[in-house]
Amino acid sequence: MTDATPPRPPLDPSSLDGVTGGRVSYEVEVVAAAPSTNALAAARAQQGAAEGLVITAEHQTAGRGRLDRTWETPDRAALTLSVVLRPEVEPVRWPWLPLLVGVSVARSLRAVGAPAELKWPNDVLLDGRKVCGILVERIESAGGPAAVAGIGINVSTTAGELPIDAATSLALAGLDVDRTTLLATLLRTLGQTYTDWLADPAALRASYVDLCATVPGRRVRVELPDGTSTTGTTRDIAESGGLVVATERGDMTVNAGDVVHLRAVEE
Ligand code: BTN
Repeated sequence: MTDATPPRPPLDPSSLDGVTGGRVSYEVEVVAAAPSTNALAAARAQQGAAEGLVITAEHQTAGRGRLDRTWETPDRAALTLSVVLRPEVEPVRWPWLPLLVGVSVARSLRAVGAPAELKWPNDVLLDGRKVCGILVERIESAGGPAAVAGIGINVSTTAGELPIDAATSLALAGLDVDRTTLLATLLRTLGQTYTDWLADPAALRASYVDLCATVPGRRVRVELPDGTSTTGTTRDIAESGGLVVATERGDMTVNAGDVVHLRAVEE
């Protein structure tokens, strides 16, 4: 494998005109560069942007990640986008949105030939390495709360451009995927998955578990937001969307944190 930069065609916004998924009609804006598409979409949501606004950047220079991490991507190497959604659901259902976006990305990657899996809560893996990160943020606005669903998929990123060893890209997995085609597939799939969830929220859990490499029966280390960590064996996904782990001190349900999939040698 060489580290030469492959050809990186620009996104073609004209072929995204009129794209829909379920109840969502999208309005896609492509910007050449932005610090963070989530920051741009959040500002627009605060100003009242309708459900379906998509902001995608060819080059993201200071992207926001989970747990205060950053997410930067070289020009045209990745798909970095943020989608405004306005789900009219009880607050107790909001924690499922990041998982729903993970399901949508995994389904879309499978549709273009990549055998993607999920690591709880919503990292998308290819060959056990992270190919996509997702950050869903809740934005308060005069028209009610909005969700900004931020998605970053490494498409043609080379090994030398990846920020961490545990990451990969579609190209490194041997897949030559056109970003515009992938974006259209993703928007259709996300809109349909979201619409199905609004109609029948309970059904998403089985779809999530089906795609998830974390449950059940996986040895994991859970790193909690307070800096502590614990190891155990995963059991299930709770109704809350949390991860149920059997530990030495009994079952615990983790609602926020990072999971490391362990191999026997790492324990
Ligand atoms: C993670 O830490 O795994 C989540 C990374 C999320 C990155 C995406 S890229 C597009 C969108 N804009 C941002 O600023 N972040 C998200």
